[in-house]
Amino acid sequence: TTYKIAVLPGDGIGPDVTAEAIKVLEALKQQDPDFKIEFRPFEWGSEYYLEHGRIMPEDGLDQLKSFDAILFGAVGDKRVPDEITIWELIMPIRKNFQQYVNMRPIRRLAGIESPLKNEQPIDFMVFRENAEGEYSNIGGRLYQQQSQEMAIQNTVITKQGVERIAKYAFEYARKNKKSKVTSATKSNAIIHSMKLWDEVVKEVAEDYGEIELESNFIDALAAYFVMRPESFEVVVASNLFGDILTDLGAALVGGLGVSPSGNINPDRTFPSMFEAIHGSAPDIAGKGIANPIAQIWSAALMLDHLGRPDLSTAIVDAIEQVLQEGRVLTPDLGGTSTTQELGSAIAEKVQQL
Ligand code: NAI
Ligand code: MG
Repeated sequence: TTYKIAVLPGDGIGPDVTAEAIKVLEALKQQDPDFKIEFRPFEWGSEYYLEHGRIMPEDGLDQLKSFDAILFGAVGDKRVPDEITIWELIMPIRKNFQQYVNMRPIRRLAGIESPLKNEQPIDFMVFRENAEGEYSNIGGRLYQQQSQEMAIQNTVITKQGVERIAKYAFEYARKNKKSKVTSATKSNAIIHSMKLWDEVVKEVAEDYGEIELESNFIDALAAYFVMRPESFEVVVASNLFGDILTDLGAALVGGLGVSPSGNINPDRTFPSMFEAIHGSAPDIAGKGIANPIAQIWSAALMLDHLGRPDLSTAIVDAIEQVLQEGRVLTPDLGGTSTTQELGSAIAEKVQQL
């Protein structure tokens, strides 16, 4: 079979890092003649919005739904409100394609310096609930008189929503012989929605007797991420908690420039989407110095999802070797190389493995 990939490079550094991910995937083709993959670019993003008054065509989702997966760069541009870029492009894809699992590996690759002195390996998986929770658009602004203005933003936590993300986390733990799942909560203060979260996670855990459930309040958990990151194996969190935890986790293992993610539709009724966790990085856009590793690693997660864990591992091994050699590094990793140089070094390495 030929994998058909929709590519949405987006804004800022999105196109630069996505081009390098494709370079590495193309290199794999030469390595394995049975590996067939095709890319179709979609130029949706802020430029498209400024020209057409919408960020994707009306039938945009229809155009994407028959692909095997989506490789997404990043969106965000000073000229376009984030409400548009996030809520009219990323969120509709995540929600309509039922990508309710956001997977974010937090793993320190060899050759990456961590701000932590502790040299123990950091290697765990965070599953962030990706379809509901705090990122709902229910709510609004009340009392338009300035002095009394007020905003309400509701959190949506459903039993079914928590059940499926918790199950996914526990299934992953079982499959990968992990002994513990950590749940991020705040049910001491957020007494309605987070209590339901706790109850459902606990119920799901009962079906996985061999796996321990650890439940931590989000504030303490943030501290534990720094104090004992080596103790985590699998973490399950709501949309907002997972978002914050994973940027913190990313900072422990090399920063936003190296951290990948997958928005997974476990039922495979629609394509899943893979993207670096960073945004469009306007501060370095156009300079050619963005680190492409996060996006290349995201492409590796995509191959795993498509059923080629062997090629996925080959990419991560290639990244790790290039990092360890330390000759070709972008400025965020302490080097002076460009996005393209680092991408090429990884593409060459993957062909040598
Ligand atoms: P950001 O992730 O774009 O940048 C944060 C910091 O990390 C910046 O200093 C940036 O230079 C650095 N950085 C990010 N990626 C890097 C890379 N590959 N190599 C080297 N350094 C890198 O987050 P920020 O500044 O909060 O947001 C910028 C725009 O991106 C906003 O419009 C935001 O809404 C959007 N955004 C989009 C996301 C998406 O498309 N999924 C996710 C997060 C933010
Ligand atoms: Mg984030």
